Amino acid sequence: MKFFIIIFFTLFAYLNYSIGNFYFRALNISGSSLKISWLLYILATVTIIAAPIVYRKYPQKYPGFFYNSLQWVGYIFFGIYSVLAFFMLIDQVGFFFYHHLGHPDKEKQSLVLVVLANISFIVTIVVSWAGYFSATKNPELKRISIPIENLPDDFHGITILQMSDVHVGQTIKSRFVNSLVKMSNELSPDIVVLTGDLTDGAHSELAHELIDFKKINAPLGKFMIPGNHEYYWGFDKWITHWEELGFVPLLNEHKIIQKNDSQVIMAGVHDYSAHRIKKTYLSSPSMAINNAPENLVKILLAHQPRSVYEAARVGYDLQLSGHTHSGQYFPFNILIYLFQPYVKGLSRHKKTWIYVNQGTGYWGPPNRFGAPPEVTLIELIKADVVLKEKA
Ligand SMILES: [Fe+2]
Repeated sequence: MKFFIIIFFTLFAYLNYSIGNFYFRALNISGSSLKISWLLYILATVTIIAAPIVYRKYPQKYPGFFYNSLQWVGYIFFGIYSVLAFFMLIDQVGFFFYHHLGHPDKEKQSLVLVVLANISFIVTIVVSWAGYFSATKNPELKRISIPIENLPDDFHGITILQMSDVHVGQTIKSRFVNSLVKMSNELSPDIVVLTGDLTDGAHSELAHELIDFKKINAPLGKFMIPGNHEYYWGFDKWITHWEELGFVPLLNEHKIIQKNDSQVIMAGVHDYSAHRIKKTYLSSPSMAINNAPENLVKILLAHQPRSVYEAARVGYDLQLSGHTHSGQYFPFNILIYLFQPYVKGLSRHKKTWIYVNQGTGYWGPPNRFGAPPEVTLIELIKADVVLKEKA
């Protein structure tokens, strides 16, 4: 373990030195300005490392001004650094090709590098600034209707409000939770579902931030499933806490939702990768509908979109997911398409609909440039009604 920590810090230090060196030279900073720039830069680097260490090792129930400031500053710089590092890489690759495509004039070469670095620096500031405002505003409401085959008449037009990846923790607190509860109750959905990564921290430190979730109203039920982050911070305590807040946890199990004489199945699973922490946490969409009545419409709550492969095989009609944050901010909201089969919005995998909420809060850096936070209001409609309307 010590070996990996040493490797990590060595790489981190080298990366930060490279970023600083690249931009300070390109921006033509020299003399005492350079010394001050390096000093501020190193301080910023320290906050990136210090923020998560202090958060995990020295949690406080009611963090003070300095504690809170460290979290905000550390994670804001984390976001800035990640974008700067990406652009430095792009600039270096671009410069490499420029150099090797026959432009030997040294003056011209250094001018190109300066121009590239200046553009990158300005774009990073814009991405970080605009992304900050996007992340810290109230989430956007997305409304969507999904046609479901064999949906009972009684369930035609019912609404499910989905929130995902709220990540209450370092910089997201009860104020944000209050705004979500208010938004949900104003929309008066029939069902509310939370699809994982709801908190980032210990139960003893964060439980009081979530109290208002108890006020959420949903006549046909409130359900939750864990995301990968729930397993990092005392899984059992968090699941019990969500039960106390009136939410039904669905851990490879289902509940039947009854309306008049009709029923649909609401199932949920452990996170797709939770078995790496404990074998009994294996995510299983098929186990989740063990002993369920046949021929009912089946809805699955699964944190990661990748669960849809098994969900489709088992015959679910709809899967609701989160996890991707749609990359959260530039350039990751483009790169994420390389790693995830379904990144945001509504798609269909074979006969199973999948809706991916792009995240109601944010993880780590308060930056959501190009991927604003979202609350989703899903309306279920009978598929044959849609076909008749189209005919
Ligand atoms: Fe996640």
